[in-house]
Amino acid sequence: MEAMHPDVDRVLFSKEDIADMVKRMGAQISKDYEGKDLVLIAVLRGAVVFMGDLMRAIDCPLAIDFMAVSSYGDGAKSSGIVRIVKDLDIDIKGRDVLIVEDILDSGLTLKYLMKNLSSRHPASLEVATFLWKDVEGRTTAIDPKYVGTHCPDEFVVGYGLDFAERYRNLPYVGVLKPEVYA
Ligand code: PRP
Ligand code: MN
Ligand code: MG
Repeated sequence: MEAMHPDVDRVLFSKEDIADMVKRMGAQISKDYEGKDLVLIAVLRGAVVFMGDLMRAIDCPLAIDFMAVSSYGDGAKSSGIVRIVKDLDIDIKGRDVLIVEDILDSGLTLKYLMKNLSSRHPASLEVATFLWKDVEGRTTAIDPKYVGTHCPDEFVVGYGLDFAERYRNLPYVGVLKPEVYA
């Protein structure tokens, strides 16, 4: 087990746990998209780490592109507003699009993206999220086809996930100490 960052209270998913989950997701996606025209769209910035791993775990031909959408800014709480910072470079019309996300929390980001991307008429549109946060009493309108793992309703960082742009480079997913964001 890797050394823990001093701001991290505990590790939820180790580097090894993550590798297993990504391998499983990649195998399933490879099977489902065989013979299709797969385009992976990662949502900057949080999804870059997962994207890098997931694309290498998929063995069918694929294209990649990126969108930058931000809803959280620098704070710990969602502003409730989704804005496009960078749009796609490629045309997804008639192609099999898979949105790659690090975490599905309120679902605001993905709800917006699903609506926005479906208006461009892809042949299919699905979601692969590494984490799906379980919040008591909450139901999301989003039903991701591929999920790495569910995670508890805590402030998680690492493996692409930040707090105020920090901790994205941690190779594991950990829970941030409350005194760090309080
Ligand atoms: C985070 C995370 C997801 C989104 C999930 O992104 O990476 O994209 O929030 O939250 P939601 O389901 O409540 O919309 P953020 O807006 O913080 O930008 P970042 O990826 O640059 O960190
Ligand atoms: Mn994000
Ligand atoms: Mg963020």
